[in-house]
Amino acid sequence: MDKFVIKGGKALHGSVAISGAKNSALPVMAAALLTTEEVSVHNIPKVRDLITMSKLLAFMGAKVSIAELPASDYVIEASMVSDAVAPYELVKTMRASILTLGPLMARVGVARVSLPGGCAIGARPVDLHLAALEKMGAEITTSHGYIEAKVPNGGKLKGAHIVFEKITVTGTENILMAAALAKGETILENSAREPEVTDLVAMLRKMGAQIEGDGTATLRIRGVEKLYGTEHTVIPDRIEAGTFLAAGAITDGDLTVTNCAPEDLGAVIAKMQGTGVRFDEIDKTTLRVRGAKRLVGSDMTTEEYPGFATDMQAQYMALATQAEGTSVITETIFENRFLHASEMVRMGANISIDGRRAVVRGPAQFSGTTVQASDLRASAGLVLAGLVANGETIIDRVYHIDRGYEGIVEKLRSVGADIERVHGSGS
Ligand code: UD1
Repeated sequence: MDKFVIKGGKALHGSVAISGAKNSALPVMAAALLTTEEVSVHNIPKVRDLITMSKLLAFMGAKVSIAELPASDYVIEASMVSDAVAPYELVKTMRASILTLGPLMARVGVARVSLPGGCAIGARPVDLHLAALEKMGAEITTSHGYIEAKVPNGGKLKGAHIVFEKITVTGTENILMAAALAKGETILENSAREPEVTDLVAMLRKMGAQIEGDGTATLRIRGVEKLYGTEHTVIPDRIEAGTFLAAGAITDGDLTVTNCAPEDLGAVIAKMQGTGVRFDEIDKTTLRVRGAKRLVGSDMTTEEYPGFATDMQAQYMALATQAEGTSVITETIFENRFLHASEMVRMGANISIDGRRAVVRGPAQFSGTTVQASDLRASAGLVLAGLVANGETIIDRVYHIDRGYEGIVEKLRSVGADIERVHGSGS
């Protein structure tokens, strides 16, 4: 297993370019299953989850052409879907494999997808995806750890009025894709409004889908007979951008983050500004961040978009440990997403957890030690802590971070961080 070794205390200076959004690239790639024609996707981040998605599509019979792995341009042609199955071996490494369920049901009317199960940050069920598909006429059973779904009598899914009980990002995406080829109109209420959902709508529209309401909680999809090939460039990764903004801020550096989408980062920028961090929007794709000599604590609650993203909570917690006073961090999306807190405490932070609330008292002087990454974003929070710790921080199990951050070591080194990857054996 690889590790990161970080020697803290270096302020970050310079410019860093943001890659494409992992959470946009995943549904966009899955959407290629909706057509027999060629789909070209650009700005795919070179991270493990996208390699897993390409393996999954290939397993189902799609031709996935890339120069070499990892790649940022993919051409996918699913002229045939020979095996409508997402096997456990792939799903266990990436929950987002569930994103193939909607397209498979729409395209071939049958799917066998391994149940994703829980993960470190909570139970993460997919009941809302399944209930919506059932409303569209699918028959679904679960047995032997697999979701077995089919449209009866070899028919097509039919449009339905679906009100999501809870806002779900991949649930909204799955049903959007299913509805694009269903018979009649589907209305989705209480849908996710994340920029990644809007990006998927843009792509589906280019394929010939009829969708209204993107960016709002109500999506209206008129099913069409056929979807066509297209070319799409994935939006910038707002979580990677937010992580680098936090890295510039926490090290009291002066960092320019390019290829990003400042309009998708509103809540993150506003919250960090509340602690004293300074931002300048240089242009529509470039942000400059500068730290403050003295950061002040500020409360934060995670919310669905346009609120503060749960995927930035660990990074914000790292920043809050360096701020004077108390910051109360409330996690409303996932029930068990404070695993990074106990590792930060081992490094010297003062954090107490009470259910979904973490009370951070700062500023803390971190001292480097060995810590464990427990999930993708927790790892990012620990990297930030390592950047300001005295001495050496060793982060174990960084395969989590490799799932979603393209070249994080190289990018951080290019702006002055002392971080290196140490290759280990085993997995
Ligand atoms: C997506 C993102 C993930 C992000 C999360 C919340 C991708 C690939 N992943 O995950 O990075 O942290 O949104 O912004 O885009 N829920 C149910 N039943 C369901 C579905 C969800 O109860 O059928 C619950 C979940 O347990 C969670 C909440 O709804 O508490 C939100 O989850 P959801 O938006 O579905 O997260 P993902 O789409 O899995």
